[in-house]
Amino acid sequence: MDNQHDRIAVVDFGGQYAHLIATKVRRQQVLAEIRQPEDSVEDFAGYKGVILSGSPSLASQGEDEDWNKEILDLDVPILGFCFGHQEIAKHYGGEVVHGGREWGAARLHIKRDHPLFKGLDSVEQVWMSHFDSVTSLGPEFEELGYTSTGTDSEAHPNAAIVSDSLRRYGFQFHPEVDSTIHGDQMIGNFVKEICGCRPTWDMSQFLEQQVAEIKEQVGDGSVFLLASGGVDSTVAAKIIGMALPGDRLKLLHVDNGMMRKGESAQVIEMFRGLGLGENLHFVDASEDFLKGLEGLVEPEAKRHSIGATFVEVFEREARRLGIEGHLLGQGTIYPDTVETGGPKRAHTIKTHHNRVPIIEEMMAAGKVVEPLADLYKVEVRELGVALGIPDYALERHPFPGPGLGVRLLCSRGGTMAPPVGYQLSEVAHDFGLEALALPVKSVGVKADLRVYEHPAIVSGASTHENLVEAARRILSEVPDINRVIWNLGEKAPESCRSVPAIATRERFDLLREADAIVMGALERHGLYKSIWQCPTAMIPLEMDGEGQELVVVRPVHSVRAMTASPVELPAVVLDELREGILALPGVSGLAMDLTSKPPGTIEWE
Ligand code: XMP
Repeated sequence: MDNQHDRIAVVDFGGQYAHLIATKVRRQQVLAEIRQPEDSVEDFAGYKGVILSGSPSLASQGEDEDWNKEILDLDVPILGFCFGHQEIAKHYGGEVVHGGREWGAARLHIKRDHPLFKGLDSVEQVWMSHFDSVTSLGPEFEELGYTSTGTDSEAHPNAAIVSDSLRRYGFQFHPEVDSTIHGDQMIGNFVKEICGCRPTWDMSQFLEQQVAEIKEQVGDGSVFLLASGGVDSTVAAKIIGMALPGDRLKLLHVDNGMMRKGESAQVIEMFRGLGLGENLHFVDASEDFLKGLEGLVEPEAKRHSIGATFVEVFEREARRLGIEGHLLGQGTIYPDTVETGGPKRAHTIKTHHNRVPIIEEMMAAGKVVEPLADLYKVEVRELGVALGIPDYALERHPFPGPGLGVRLLCSRGGTMAPPVGYQLSEVAHDFGLEALALPVKSVGVKADLRVYEHPAIVSGASTHENLVEAARRILSEVPDINRVIWNLGEKAPESCRSVPAIATRERFDLLREADAIVMGALERHGLYKSIWQCPTAMIPLEMDGEGQELVVVRPVHSVRAMTASPVELPAVVLDELREGILALPGVSGLAMDLTSKPPGTIEWE
C-alpha cells in the first residue's frame, strides 16, 4: 500500500470502462486502485473517495445485488457511474426501471452551480450506454442534470444526481470515456474539489515500478517477446530491454499471413532502426495459421485458433533458437484484457489473441511479462515518447494481432436479413436515404454486453453530418442492427445474398490489396496521422446478383479504443477508393462505416 499519495478506490462492477476510470483518475495525478464489490470495508481504509463503475448487469432487475453495500456506509464521498449511479439512487430510496435507454452522445443540461461541474458550461456533451434509468429520487437527493439527444427534444431525467448532505453523487453517463468532452474535468472535480486529493502521482514512477517488477519476475531468466511491430510491442520491448541486459531479451516477429502488404519487411527495418535488429528473429508461419483457420466461421473460434497458433509457433521457434527457461513477453494493453472478459464481471466482447486460454494458463504460472497491461494506447504512446522511440514507430495505426484475420468475415452462407425493412426504411427516408438490412452478422457492444447483430446499408448522396445522424437514429430505433454503412457504389442495392466463405490465402490476398489501396490513399492525402485507425473489412456478400465480397472501410477517431466515432473522408479520397477497390476481381460493392463504438466495435468480425 502506498501512503505517499492520496488515493481513490474504483469499485469494478465489470463495466467495459471500470479500469478506464482508474486511468482517468491517475491522469489527474491522483493514485487510483481497483477494488472488488465484495471487498470488506476494511479494504477501503485510507481512501479519500470511492467511485462505483458501470456494469453489464441490470440494476432494475436486481442483478448483481449481492455486493457489499456496507461500502456505502464509508465516511468518504462516493460517486457512481451508470450501474453505480443506479445502485446509489436505489440504496437511498430512489427507483430504477428498465427503460429510457440512450446510446452515444447526449447533451447534459446542468441545472445549477456545483463543485462537481466547476469550470463547465451549462450544457455539456456526455456519452451514454444504458438500458436502465433512475425514475425517482430518495428524499435527500436532487436532480443536478438531465439529458437530451440529437433532434429528440424529450428530456431524460436524473442524468446527474447529488446529495451534498450524504456526500453521494451519481452520473448516468460515462465521464471516463473521451466522448464525454469534459469528463476529465468532472473526474478531476470529484477527486480534488470533493474528495480533497492532492495531485502528486506521475508516469515516471510507473516506469520505475515496472522496471523493478520485471527484474524481480525474470530473475536470471530471459524473455522472448512477440513483436508485431505495433506501438505496444515496440514500447514493451524497450521497457523490458531497460530491465534486462541485451542478450536476455529476444524478439520474434511472425508473419501470420494476415499482415498488411509489405508489412513484415517494414517491421524488420524498423527494429533495425531502433537498435533492436540483433535481438530480432523472423519466421513466416502463414501456412500454420491458414491450416488452423480451415473450416472456421465464428469470429471467436477464429480468434482462439489464431491465438493458439501464435503460442505453437512461439514455442517451436524458442526450441529452434535454443532459448531455455524463457518467459513470454507481450505488449498487451488494458483493452485487450477487458474486452476478453478478463476482469471478474466483464462480459467477453472478443478474445484478443494475447488472452486465449493457453496464455492465461501461462500467466497463472507467472510465465508472462506484460509491462503495459494496465495502460491504454494514448499512455503507451506517451511512454514511447519519453523513452525516445521515434515518431514513425509510435504513429503507426493500431493493427490487431490477428490482423486481417478478424477483418475477413467468414460465413456458412444462407444467413437471412432481420425482418426490419419497414422500420429501417421509415427512419432512412427521414434523412433522404434508402436502406437495406444485410444478411450477415458482426460483433458489437451495447451497454457493456457483446451483441452479434446485422449491419444496414444506406444509399443516397448526403452530408457526413446527415449520414452520421441517420446512423445514430437507426441504431437507437431499429432492433437487431448494430452497424450502419454508407454505400459508395453508384446505385442503391436492391438485393443481397450471403455467400459461404472461409479464410483462404486468396481471400486474404484480395483483402490485402483493398487495404493497401485505402492506406495508400490516406498517406497520399496526408490523412494517415489525423485518422486514428482505418480498418478495411471484407464481407462475403453478393450484391444484386454480382460479385461475392463487399468491402467496408472504417475510418475512426478514438483515443483509447474503448469508444470511437466515424470520420469523414474527402470526396477525392472516396473517388480513389471507388476506382481502385471496385475494380478488384470478385468485389461486389464498397461502403464506409458510419457506426460509433458503442454500439459497433472498431474492428468488424
Ligand atoms: P474493437 O474492435 O474491440 O478494437 O473496437 C479496439 C482496438 O483493439 C484492437 N484490437 C486488437 N488488438 N489484439 C490486439 O492487439 C487483438 O486481438 C485485437 N482485437 C482488436 C483494434 O484494432 C482496435 O484498435
